[in-house]
Amino acid sequence: MSQTKQGRLPKNYYRDMDKENMLDYSYVEVLVEELTPLEAVIELERLAKVIAYHDELYFQKDTPEISDASYDALVIRNRKIELRFPELRRADSPTRRIGAPLASGFRKVKHRSAMLSLENAFTNTDIYDFFDRVRRFLNLSAEEEIGVVAEPKIDGLSASLHYQQGRLRLGATRGDGSEGEDITENIKTILDIPMVLEGENIPESLEVRGEVYMCRDDFFALNERRLQADEAHFANPRNAAAGSLRQLNPQITASRPLKFFAYGFDALSGLALTEHTQILSQLKRWGFVVNSEIRFCHSPIQILDYYSSIAQRRIELPYDIDGVVYKINNLEWQQRLGSVGRTPRHAIAHKFAAEKAETIIENIDLQIGRTGVLTPVAWLKPVNVGGVIVSRASLHNADEIKRRDVRVGDTVIIQRAGDVIPQVLEVVMAKRPLDSQTFIFPDACPSCGSLVEQIPGEVARRCSGGLICAEQAAERLKHFVSRDAFDIEGLGIRNIETFFADGLIKNPADIFTLEQRDKGSLTPLRCKEGWGGQSTQNLFAAINKRRTIPLNRFIYALGISQIGVVTAKLLAKHYLSFDSLQHSMMSAADSTAEAYQELLSMDGIGQSTAVDLIYFFQEPHNIDIVKQLLEQIQVEDFQLEVSDHLPLAGQTVVFTGSLKMMSRAEAKATAERLGAKVAGSVSKKTNFVVVGADAGSKAKAATEFGVQVLNEDDWNRMAQGE
Ligand code: IVH
Repeated sequence: MSQTKQGRLPKNYYRDMDKENMLDYSYVEVLVEELTPLEAVIELERLAKVIAYHDELYFQKDTPEISDASYDALVIRNRKIELRFPELRRADSPTRRIGAPLASGFRKVKHRSAMLSLENAFTNTDIYDFFDRVRRFLNLSAEEEIGVVAEPKIDGLSASLHYQQGRLRLGATRGDGSEGEDITENIKTILDIPMVLEGENIPESLEVRGEVYMCRDDFFALNERRLQADEAHFANPRNAAAGSLRQLNPQITASRPLKFFAYGFDALSGLALTEHTQILSQLKRWGFVVNSEIRFCHSPIQILDYYSSIAQRRIELPYDIDGVVYKINNLEWQQRLGSVGRTPRHAIAHKFAAEKAETIIENIDLQIGRTGVLTPVAWLKPVNVGGVIVSRASLHNADEIKRRDVRVGDTVIIQRAGDVIPQVLEVVMAKRPLDSQTFIFPDACPSCGSLVEQIPGEVARRCSGGLICAEQAAERLKHFVSRDAFDIEGLGIRNIETFFADGLIKNPADIFTLEQRDKGSLTPLRCKEGWGGQSTQNLFAAINKRRTIPLNRFIYALGISQIGVVTAKLLAKHYLSFDSLQHSMMSAADSTAEAYQELLSMDGIGQSTAVDLIYFFQEPHNIDIVKQLLEQIQVEDFQLEVSDHLPLAGQTVVFTGSLKMMSRAEAKATAERLGAKVAGSVSKKTNFVVVGADAGSKAKAATEFGVQVLNEDDWNRMAQGE
């Protein structure tokens, strides 16, 4: 009927198609929304050929016939049709152009700005607290409305996409938040992700962030195919998406049904947007897929309503979600709120209640951590909890087992909350076997036999074997090679365990002498089971690649109690070189020394962390290992970043008293944005003290130390660069 209408494909278009009119794209195009499926088939075939033709002219012959803009229009049209009729996507479609497999792993890429994670909330009170915090931080009156955008929290993996002049140039994983992996070729196989942006307002440089995921049905179908092919099944859609995205061969990724929801962007050569809702609309206009369940809410009551309605409909959604994300809509407020550690203050994840299941405890044993802490673990009869097979659960500590009288043979209810290790919620007493025995926490370490002692003031029990305990040593080694530490490719937990058991690697320094020792060995690695010439060479190459390591990674790798990634970076930034850190820590053993005061004045280092640090550098065996390591490797001094050239870089500020224009938290965040360090107490190293109303001893201390004192107005002028 509509065949004759102007703008339809010419009659007999398909039958008559020859090279000539196949390339005739001058006819009036039918709107994608109006194409019938049959017309779509024809049009997709035509576009595949036309685009291939122009590709050849452009890439092979260097004689393009059409402008970039006309070419982009063809690519965009092709993708639009495929998004409308995904089942018609052709094997030779231009959206399936697949790059060559990577020979040697993914390249690392530094994120332009850190990919943060979200703070979790579980109860309504947590949500009201979030609003209160935002209100206080921004100094908003009780009447001021705080508009929030509520988005389903997609259970997938976040990805960062870089566009230059509207073309996709780079796709990266989140990685550790500051550095991810270059997965561009894999990203290009995802239809939801445009290769070329549509519409207007396309910035010179654009970074889009969002979530790569797999729909539940696609996941089941994929597992079915894997079962047929005798391949291991994926535990859940998230794992399937992760496994598919980290394939070295993009051909495999292309065969997996991955999807993408965009949820934010960051544009250089800025667009003057003021609200998050505008960001979402702009993403849609550029051709991204934005989740259709996203809603704007005016109040906490509205978002809680949204939460319960989504929670109820959760199972009807085609993809897994593990909660809802709330984001403050006002972008200026978002910016002012800034972030704390690795989480922004402007957003929060409201998680769904954990999924539960009933099973039986088959055994209880003890795991020994790298600092000697013993954690009781329940071995369970494997059970499916919300799509994941669970066979172990943490029992936390001895007191907890005693309090709840958990026994081997008990039937228990377990729950899984997000990625956290499953927990035992309760014992089903009615099902307890008559002959069950109370669990007795051993007083000797199951690994080295040393006395197990209770740490004063803590519930944890610790093996007192310290450096002689083999299991602690093995745990320390695993930590040493872990992702945020030395991250040695091919030297994962399994290999470390075997090398440790064989006595080949007993301490971190042994890793770096392995190749040398192997050369003189009668039983070289390449002759061992599971190893060959090539894999041995790869391992040595991977080890050698890490003979130079950034200071913060090195500090983290040492596995000092309480020193995580963030604190390690803090220390690196403060002490700049390992030599200076070690020297200061040794001097700080004397609590009257200046080095001790300096350590404590750092924001983020409390008394107990300070003690653990000092203790580590007092232990002769640790010093010895560090010395051996430094003979093998080079620790790079911490490189101050652009942020360190900020107006207040290297300066230390102390705030005291109550400020009238802004909250203390915002003042602190502003100071940090300008590069200053904010300390909790005044010392000789303080550069200035900002004094609000009713300031107490710190203002006095400032005068004593001869530190410059500013009032709130002085500070604001300074912060604004006056
Ligand atoms: S915003 C600053 N929005 O949740 C945080 N994240 O727990 C930026 N996620 O790493 C994330 N759906 O992988 C945001 N609508 C959504 C999301 C979402 C899922 C994931 C994302 C992030 C993690 C944080």
